[in-house]
Amino acid sequence: MNGIVFKLNGKEVASKSDHDKPLLWVLRDEFNLMGTKYGCGIGQCGACTVHLNGNAVRSCLLPISQLNGMEITTIEGLSKGGTHPVQKAWKEVDVPQCGYCQAGQIMTASAFLEKKPDPTVDEIDDAMHGNICRCGAYHRIRKAVRMAAKQ
Ligand code: FES
Ligand code: FES
Repeated sequence: MNGIVFKLNGKEVASKSDHDKPLLWVLRDEFNLMGTKYGCGIGQCGACTVHLNGNAVRSCLLPISQLNGMEITTIEGLSKGGTHPVQKAWKEVDVPQCGYCQAGQIMTASAFLEKKPDPTVDEIDDAMHGNICRCGAYHRIRKAVRMAAKQ
């Protein structure tokens, strides 16, 4: 394969994009994965969060030159049919308002719970505080993370 080769939602892909292009735009423009959102473009809002080898990262700041051999998961690849415990809790609590920030919130929460399956409220707030929700759904986000942790 030519270009930068990495695993995307479980499948090996080769990107033809410029090597300094941020992953966010490669996902959207080249791979047509629109779940990952552009909010600020400077690492401040969390809307573009994906998993890089299981860790939550800001895809707007990540040039694909750094991705050779890495594993990327986007909201589209988190589970089959929205069955991840975090996605189920999100539905149960009815978290989203406009929905724009939500993929980023879910990707941050799922990576966090993988490492910290039984967090305190303070630890949840700490983990989630970098993900901005302009609709102010923070109370429901916290509730859903707690619910997912119990599952
Ligand atoms: Fe990446 Fe805001 S768009 S952190
Ligand atoms: Fe609207 Fe978070 S639900 S920005």
